[in-house]
Amino acid sequence: MRLKGKNIILGITGSIAAYKAAMLLRLFIKEGAEVQVVITPAGKEFITPVTLSALSNKPVVSEFFGANDGTWNSHVDLGLWADVMVIAPATASTMGKMANGIADNMLITTYLSAKCPVMLAPAMDLDMFAHPSTQRNIGILKEYGNIIVEPGEGELASGLEGKGRMEEPEKILEAVVQQLQVKKKLLNKSFLVTAGPTYEKIDPVRFIGNYSSGKMGYAIAEELAEQGAEVTLISGPVNIEVHNKNIHIVQVESAAEMHQAAIKAFATTDGAVMCAAVADFTPVIKENTKTKRGNENWKLELQPTKDIAAELGKQKMKNQLLVGFALETNNEFENAQQKLKKKNLDFIVLNSLKDKGAGFGVDTNKITIIEKDNKHTEFELKNKNEVAKDIVAKIIELNV
Ligand code: CTP
Repeated sequence: MRLKGKNIILGITGSIAAYKAAMLLRLFIKEGAEVQVVITPAGKEFITPVTLSALSNKPVVSEFFGANDGTWNSHVDLGLWADVMVIAPATASTMGKMANGIADNMLITTYLSAKCPVMLAPAMDLDMFAHPSTQRNIGILKEYGNIIVEPGEGELASGLEGKGRMEEPEKILEAVVQQLQVKKKLLNKSFLVTAGPTYEKIDPVRFIGNYSSGKMGYAIAEELAEQGAEVTLISGPVNIEVHNKNIHIVQVESAAEMHQAAIKAFATTDGAVMCAAVADFTPVIKENTKTKRGNENWKLELQPTKDIAAELGKQKMKNQLLVGFALETNNEFENAQQKLKKKNLDFIVLNSLKDKGAGFGVDTNKITIIEKDNKHTEFELKNKNEVAKDIVAKIIELNV
């Protein structure tokens, strides 16, 4: 599923190679992409929209306007939605219009609005492809930054042999996957993330825990993986699904188990993000049988757990990055700065419980990133997925 979470506009124009677009669409879907087909009027002569909407599970977009019902298709929204626009097959006529901004159909207006990379797989007869006007238009499109998936040589629909045959769907898929990976900034890197609460056993039915939902840590793991990193996610008990296949999850329960797993994994990584709300204390004695209620008070003796972040801070090598979190209620900035130093972190993410919408259980967070040299950046209240992007951007800035 190399295209999981990716939005693709598949543009189809009027060439006999349009039948191959159905196969390309199928390959995109199989790789986990969401695909919106935009087809030109001539494209519809070669392949029926019914096939395409069935394969993509979405109505095909072709006209500017709905059927006399006052609705219209927004090419601007589509252009912003997509991570990549792939026009396959791209005819000489469509490329000519694209090169010159002749926006007389939905495909071209979408192209002009697209903010994402645009890839074209030309398909035409050899003489059309070789014609100076086609070559000039391809040159212009390349200058615009569009990517041409060169046609192959071979037998053409006309019966002639030469260059002009649309590249095979499998090859176009590989070009698209590669194009989307170029943007990834943490390829060949690996990170450790701790997330969620820990449960400290009292007896077989009771534990000491905390309200951490694990959302922030999981969002960071997803974003690191999204940027191409391999992620070991050491997670306390939470109820969140992992999406990216580059995330390897290690389920733990107690602070001691989390400590052991983190120490084991850290040495071979490029860094660690300590997002877990690790219990600071654990019962000295963990009973093997359920403690019965009596009339006496129950005094539970607790001992401090190991500070996992601080331990990794001691082990940290020069090329490794260590990121911590500080959830504070008062004297926030000074406390966070002290933790940064004490644990030998490269930066610390401060969230204050004083801020509405920050902290445990909620989907949002409001953070300040504090670095070693006192440099700090305050962020707005955002969704935790967006906060994860800000944190990972800082990791990329410091690590790459
Ligand atoms: N941390 C850890 N292991 C612990 C306690 C904390 O790895 N046993 C990490 C957290 O994941 C976080 C950072 O250390 O990244 C700060 O956690 P916090 O609980 O705020 O700090 P403590 O050092 O426990 O300080 P205190 O609870 O006294 O504020």
